Amino acid sequence: MAYPLLLIATVILAPAIITVNGCSPSDKASLLAFKAGLVSCDAAAGRVSDINLRGESEDPIFEKAGRSGYMTGKISPEICKLDHLTTLVVADWKAISGEIPPCITSLSNLRILDLIGNRISGEIPADIGKLQRLTVLNLADNTISGKIPASIVNLASLKHLDLSNNQLTGQIPNDIGKLAMMSRALMSRNQLTGPIPSSIASIYRLADLDLSGNRLSGSIPSGLGQMPVLSILNLDSNSLSGQIPSSLLSNPGMGILNLSRNGFEGTIPDVFGSKSYFMVLDLSYNNLKGRVPASLSSAKYIGHLDLSHNHLCGTIPMGSPFDHLEASSFSNNDCLCGNPLKTC
Ligand SMILES: *[C@@H]1O[C@H](CO)[C@@H](O)[C@H](O)[C@H]1NC(C)=O
Repeated sequence: MAYPLLLIATVILAPAIITVNGCSPSDKASLLAFKAGLVSCDAAAGRVSDINLRGESEDPIFEKAGRSGYMTGKISPEICKLDHLTTLVVADWKAISGEIPPCITSLSNLRILDLIGNRISGEIPADIGKLQRLTVLNLADNTISGKIPASIVNLASLKHLDLSNNQLTGQIPNDIGKLAMMSRALMSRNQLTGPIPSSIASIYRLADLDLSGNRLSGSIPSGLGQMPVLSILNLDSNSLSGQIPSSLLSNPGMGILNLSRNGFEGTIPDVFGSKSYFMVLDLSYNNLKGRVPASLSSAKYIGHLDLSHNHLCGTIPMGSPFDHLEASSFSNNDCLCGNPLKTC
């Protein structure tokens, strides 16, 4: 049953791009039908421009087979000879292992590098910043270790960075704000330490920032609340402290804010208003004291509110945003009362 995968590796993708050591059972007919979509050539130059190998795709062939792909092997450095390559996707095969070939940074036409969902280890090539055309760098869900290379801030075209769920250590580069094109920056579930660089606030297009599940410390740079299009901010499960910047809560574009499981202290700024529209506002498991802000009752919408496990006190405000909330949104505080908790 290893035959079809060997076929892909040695015939279709010659020279061997993925070195297959052993393969799981997969459906030969499906793979043969699937192969046509894997590699495409640049018509003018007659050179390989795209490699698209997805183990989990919406492709009807996989759906029909009722399972997703599984493939072991390594990404061979031979791939660096395909110097017209613009897209390299080897995603969701669960068990592609080994390192990212360092020579990959010589593929100067590369726009998309997507290796999500494998077992790739080692470090991100130190000179990754050479890839001046790279718009997507997705290395999520692997076992990549070491630091985020300093050169990453030179990826002038980068729009989408996903390093989530690896074993990265060290700090987020201080000058990450140089990534001016970036709209999504996802670095959750690593072991990153140090502060959130305040330069992030200068990334004008950043809409989605996820740094949750790390060991980040220090306070939230207040500039994060003034970002023009930031609408998703997940900083939960870190060691952040200090006050919650009021600009973060008053920003009408903020739709998902999770600050749960940190050491935030002080009161919750009373700065909500009729433009506040939160799908998620999770401030649970911190050291917040004082009252539930009265202005929250004037919010346009609060979908999921969690203020539990703090040291809040006083009466929960009334108003339409609170009507659908349950006691669990307010539980485990010092002395909160009123609907949906017991009366005062
Ligand atoms: C917020 O983050 C915490 C901790 O990581 C997580 O348990 C919780 O589910 C998140 N809240 C929401 C509403 O997603």
